[in-house]
Amino acid sequence: MAQAAFHFPRGFLWGTATAAYQVEGNNTNSNWYAWEQQPGRILNGYQSGLACDWWNGRWREDFRRAAETGQNAHRFSIEWSRIQPAPDRWDEAALDHYLDMLRYMEELGLMPMVTLHHFSDPLWLAEMGGWETSAVVGYFDTYVKRVVEAFKDYVSLWCTINEPNVLATMAYLFGVFPPGEKSMGKFNRVCLNLVRTHAAAYRAIHALQPDARVGMAINYRSMQPARPWLPPDRWITHLQSRAFNDLFPRAAQDGWVRLPFIRRHVPEAKGTQDYLGVNYYSRELVAFHPFRPGEIFSHRYYREGVELSHTGFIANEPEGMWDALKWANRFNLPILISENGIEDPEDRLRPRYLAEHLHQVWRAVNFNWPVKGYFHWTLVDNFEWDRGWKQRFGLWELDVETQGRRKRPSADFFAEICRENGISADMVARYAPDAFARMFPN
Ligand code: FCB
Repeated sequence: MAQAAFHFPRGFLWGTATAAYQVEGNNTNSNWYAWEQQPGRILNGYQSGLACDWWNGRWREDFRRAAETGQNAHRFSIEWSRIQPAPDRWDEAALDHYLDMLRYMEELGLMPMVTLHHFSDPLWLAEMGGWETSAVVGYFDTYVKRVVEAFKDYVSLWCTINEPNVLATMAYLFGVFPPGEKSMGKFNRVCLNLVRTHAAAYRAIHALQPDARVGMAINYRSMQPARPWLPPDRWITHLQSRAFNDLFPRAAQDGWVRLPFIRRHVPEAKGTQDYLGVNYYSRELVAFHPFRPGEIFSHRYYREGVELSHTGFIANEPEGMWDALKWANRFNLPILISENGIEDPEDRLRPRYLAEHLHQVWRAVNFNWPVKGYFHWTLVDNFEWDRGWKQRFGLWELDVETQGRRKRPSADFFAEICRENGISADMVARYAPDAFARMFPN
């Protein structure tokens, strides 16, 4: 048996990532809850219901699962609508609930990374115009101050907004997330408000906690021109990658928001990230298409012959992880892989996906790029937004009816990786034999 092993730096963070709305259940005060009630919004009419029943306390057993399988960190999010059920009302019991979670994580040796906004908004904010109104900047600032005051003894790693690029695109351009808008003008306005909101939150957190580390998690899509010899394909790929991948981290770097065809200066955003969070799932091809303005003049698809996830949502493209880290490294900041994973109910592809993606992370680490941690999406199957319960990303399988959990083989694989702080040839041979030849070529 081969002796090779890919080791990670000491202190590397190993964990999973979750989001409040997807696991807590009964978030009736959120815009997503109202959205779920509208016919046709969620695949098969699925409802989040109890989700993973975290609000009734099942986070305890799930955190134990994480800690017992060698993880040393966990990324989770706070539900704004629980903390602040009305603009003039704070729910102390909700704050205490999250404090209990943080105390237990400390006990278990899980270092928390706390996301302050992960897609869902309080209903009252949605009714006032959500991300389209500039009032969101001030409201979010007030909420963040309250949360940071309450949790700062336990948390120093903050993510202001999860995937502002996905939020703006899905909710205001493609109409798939609430409020279901399809408007370039609204998309632009929302992007500006997201940048301003992040900037204000960054400054508010640092004022209360000078040594905090604050950033965003960006969904990085690796994009390649479908026909690289064709200038229109190259042009549209470049344009989309700039608008989708670059917009937020560049704005937080230099204060310039580069919207498609417009530039806006938001000076307070300059220098507002202490690390870059990268959520990487897949790579795609982009072809120019003059008759698809709604898709920003493009046709996007996965390469022929690539392995696809259960519903075809994700293609197994590990080299895209390399692209993502190469891209992230340009920002000269510590890098956290804040999400990466695949929907795979039978756990057929996940072990290989995990091995091959971590192999690319290891390559980046060996170029001395400052990758500090990896959060797998996700711990237990959860409510996947507009795809509901159809997509199963968990290391643990969830029976939604009984709330029973069942460990998938990938959970054991990940446990060995976390404990070893590396991946050995022996592990790959046992858990992902079909990745062996690629990872350990003779
Ligand atoms: C990301 C989201 C996360 C989850 C995964 C599959 O875009 O941040 O909540 O839905 O995709």
